[in-house]
Amino acid sequence: MAGSGTFSEIIDGDVYKYYVDGQWKKSSSGKSVPIINPTTRNTHYKVQACTQEEVNNVIDSAKKAQKLWAKTPLWKRAELLHKAAAILKENKAPIAECLVKEIAKPAKDSVTEVVRSGDLISYCAEEGVRILGEGKFLVSDSFPGNDRTKYCLTSKIPIGVVLAIPPFNYPVNLAISKIAPALIAGNSIVLKPPTQGAVAALHMVHCFHLAGFPKGLIGCVTGKGSEIGDFLTMHPGVNCISFTGGDTGISISRKAGMVPLQMELGGKDACIVLEDADLDLAAANIVKGGFSYSGQRCTAVKVVLVMEKVASSLVKKVNEKVAKLTVGPPEDDCDITPVVTESSANFIEGLVMDAKEKKATFCQEYKRKGNLIWPLLLDNVRPDMRIAWEEPFGPVLPVIRINSVEEGIHHCNASNFGLQGCVFTSDINKAIMISDAMETGTVQINSAPARGPDHFPFQGIKDSGIGSQGITNSIHMMTKVKTTVINLPAPSYTMG
Ligand code: G3H
Repeated sequence: MAGSGTFSEIIDGDVYKYYVDGQWKKSSSGKSVPIINPTTRNTHYKVQACTQEEVNNVIDSAKKAQKLWAKTPLWKRAELLHKAAAILKENKAPIAECLVKEIAKPAKDSVTEVVRSGDLISYCAEEGVRILGEGKFLVSDSFPGNDRTKYCLTSKIPIGVVLAIPPFNYPVNLAISKIAPALIAGNSIVLKPPTQGAVAALHMVHCFHLAGFPKGLIGCVTGKGSEIGDFLTMHPGVNCISFTGGDTGISISRKAGMVPLQMELGGKDACIVLEDADLDLAAANIVKGGFSYSGQRCTAVKVVLVMEKVASSLVKKVNEKVAKLTVGPPEDDCDITPVVTESSANFIEGLVMDAKEKKATFCQEYKRKGNLIWPLLLDNVRPDMRIAWEEPFGPVLPVIRINSVEEGIHHCNASNFGLQGCVFTSDINKAIMISDAMETGTVQINSAPARGPDHFPFQGIKDSGIGSQGITNSIHMMTKVKTTVINLPAPSYTMG
């Protein structure tokens, strides 16, 4: 059970502690933040409401610890990461239980999230040893007066303190995707988990504690964004910010100043289906891509753009699959579970009502109970409807019928977002041309959008983000280039 056994140290009474300088502590604020179970809508856990002074302490401690960590051999860093991965996987059951209760993620997907995170840590450790063990050597050439008199040695050095802010939908995995590359690269970490998902994240941090990382190297503060959010992101002690979430990322990027940013924000991932597509394959991917974790993934399929000629057949196939989705509590491992908060459910309902007023075709009856919204496919959606452009982050999927490939690409590119997109066709040449034309970070051919495999580059453009993620890219992003130039005396002879 969460908070017991291995994890008894991280809780005091009914409030989870925060983590500073290798210790689990209560906040001096005496206040806590409730975490509401999306299914029961009752308070399920409580976490500390940390103060700005406590944030200062966590950052100071991370700064000190990083100095020594930067000098720790790569193999030793990797060894500790492998240990943390093993402890995390051993504790997949209690951590998954937190995910079920805090964010209503279906039980099996919750376990998968923890296991995937363990694998990510191990891969990162291996990759880091190779990437960071190499440097570059250049000899001056071609620029007048410098011929072969300068030798340039370049290597990658740690960046310092990395602030990691993951979102509610992957509080463990998207924390790990920031923590593991930061640590292997010789940095320290300050983690600010999302409120929903904070307890799963605290359990994950405890796995790093048990693995024996130096004290201070990892710190974790919990609390209200309104109290400590700006304070953290504008803190002079922070050297890099890796954020995944919504619009807040845009305001962070405006306030953060001269620190490297890695941001993954929202998406409106379009799925273009051509006349020559395998419609069974497209329908299976649309349902999986659009409705897994109830559509609460930034890479979910968020709009289907299908050629008119095959639209009715595709919609029929998608509807047959939607009818088979199970709806209910995450404990029963249902496909569709309650969305994370009541305000999210209200927002989704607003989009549905707008589509209703503007006469979209409802393929299923709209049904909601508390935070639970039944899966809904909306056909004949038009560009004047909000759902054509806005991200529901819920189990509602619009279908827009198109008359040309150009129309589909135009709709995709008119979006403020540019995370991923996908195209279904049996013509690889056409698929590549469409991929080139779509203004998104990634285009999937004949499959739904997805971040993984976790070592692939992952990036959004426009309002979908800055920088590229994926294990290798994150390691590079969390290091600085250091160059040393050896200057030789000018040769006293003239070449040939
Ligand atoms: O929600 C944002 C995630 O980066 C999506 O990850 O494609 O593995 O579900 P995923």
